[in-house]
Parts: sequence; structure tokens; C-alpha cells
Amino acid sequence: MEQLLVALDVDTVAEARALADRLRGAVGGFKIGSRLFTREGPAFVEELASRGDRVFLDLKFHDIPNTVAGAIAAATRLGVWMVNVHASGGSSMMRAAREAAADEAARRSVPVPLVIAVTMLTSLDQAALTEIGLTAALGEQVERLAALTEAAGLDGVVASPQEIAIIRRRRGARFHIVTPGIRGGGDAKGDQSRTLSAADALAAGASYLVVGRPIIAAADPRAAAERITVECGRES
Ligand code: C5P
Repeated sequence: MEQLLVALDVDTVAEARALADRLRGAVGGFKIGSRLFTREGPAFVEELASRGDRVFLDLKFHDIPNTVAGAIAAATRLGVWMVNVHASGGSSMMRAAREAAADEAARRSVPVPLVIAVTMLTSLDQAALTEIGLTAALGEQVERLAALTEAAGLDGVVASPQEIAIIRRRRGARFHIVTPGIRGGGDAKGDQSRTLSAADALAAGASYLVVGRPIIAAADPRAAAERITVECGRES
């Protein structure tokens, strides 16, 4: 299923490559996060991208605009399909990211990667916001940052299952919503407290689903991905 992105949350390239080889064709792309990237570096990102896989590089950049622009340009050179920043880095940082992706893609004659933003980490609750001096209600803060993301010209946001519907309503059909925290009836929720099934997340308006453990920790990861596809009423 094209909307299904699998989080390759493993420690080694050997494990990640084996998973990608089993899942290719059954899923829409692979997410590489800070765990694998910090350990193994950019070569594996390039390896997947150069064989035609869609790679979501989930490094959540958050720095001064010039530094983020450089990081996004480097990600564009690796051939990533999607990359992200923290919306709380502000609109000039986000605009710099957007421009760097477009400029670098034009220079290299490669497609412009989707640049999306994390609004508020789902690990933060209202008390954690207060602790860092934010007085807005959590939901309001998420909506504020989603609006800022769109105004800065970015392609979309990462949003928890709870936030999909309101963001879709407010931001319209073209804004990408990428949703982790997907669990089926039989899956262990583990550390994900707010979850939705894949079918419900798509029905609420998610553009892409990020699924990690329910697929990568399954005895047969490809069968697990195919089961999710069927649950969503898709054929492949
Ligand atoms: O294994 P699981 O399906 O929970 O994996 C979800 C993936 O999405 C992980 O890579 C996790 O870091 C990421 N993620 C998340 N919640 C967020 C943002 C990212 O679970 N709010």
C-alpha cells in the first residue's frame, strides 16, 4: 500500500536491508530515523534511494536557518523522498528548509523532497509545555504550528492519530499528514498511548501511515504489511 511507510527502527544496516528486501513492493516507503542514521550514516539512505525506494529521513532538524538549510540540501543530495524539521524552529527556519530543498533539487535535476514538520512531540503533555514556558493548550499549540508550517510553504506535518481530523479540516486536502501510532486490534500498544487502526487513520484524513513494530517485529513482516493493506480495503 502506497500510503504505508515502515519505520526501519533497527540498529544495523544488515537488519534494515533485510527488512527492506522483504517488504519492497508491499509498502510505500521506508522511514530512517536517528537511531539507524547515527549508527550507520548516510550510505544506506543513498543505497535505498538509488534503487528506487522512497525514503523518509526522519531526523527532525531544529537549528538556525542556515544550518537547517545545509542539512536539508545534504538530504536532498542523498535522494530522500521526504524529510522533516521541527515547526518550533520558526517560520524563517522552515522557509530556509523549503528553499534549500527546491534549490538543491534544481541544481541536481532531482525531484524536490517533501519537507514536513513535527508540531509538538507526542511524548509531551500539558505539564511538559508548562515546564518549558508555553501557556497555550497542547491542542492549540499543535494547530498553531500546523498553520505556521503551511504558511511557510512546507508540505505537511507529522500528526498523532488524535490530531488528524482537525488538521485535515483546517489545512485542506493538499496538506500531507503523516501519522505514527498505528495499531491493529491484536497489536501490543507498548509505549504508544494514543493509537488508531490504519483504516481509521486513513478515514480521518491521514496521507501516510508510519508503522514500526507491528511490521518489523512480526514473525512475517511482509504478511503483516499485507494484512494492514487488506484492513484498509486496498489491494496493494
Ligand atoms: O513501532 P511504532 O509503530 O510505534 O513506530 C512508530 C515510529 O514513528 C517510530 O519510528 C517512532 O519514533 C515514530 N514516531 C512516533 N510518534 C511520533 C513521532 C514519530 O511514534 N509522534
